[in-house]
Amino acid sequence: MIHTLAIANYRSLRQIIMPLGNLTVVTGPNGSGKSNLYKALRLLAESASGNLINALAQDGGLESSLWAGPETIA
Ligand SMILES: Nc1ncnc2c1ncn2[C@@H]1O[C@H](COP(=O)(O)OP(=O)(O)OP(=O)(O)O)[C@@H](O)[C@H]1O
Ligand SMILES: [Mg+2]
Repeated sequence: MIHTLAIANYRSLRQIIMPLGNLTVVTGPNGSGKSNLYKALRLLAESASGNLINALAQDGGLESSLWAGPETIA
């Protein structure tokens, strides 16, 4: 089991170290980074299966994994 998740400079996540339990519930306002958190976890899982390049490409390429600024509401 994974006990700690650490992410730096992925999408909107600058630096985060979070403990994981048997069940971890993530809550927060819109745009706070919940989806980016699980995308990072999924990317880590894909890289552990040797599928990092495909996963990055499917996620929009390397550029999508970098900070793209705050959401603009039209
Ligand atoms: N490369 C990027 N990819 C995705 N989001 C990015 C990126 N760079 C910056 N952001 C910003 O990260 C913020 C957090 O997005 P995220 O979708 O993870 O929030 P959320 O907590 O899941 O929101 P919601 O509750 O609306 O689903 C958004 O404001 C978005 O504009
Ligand atoms: Mg979301």
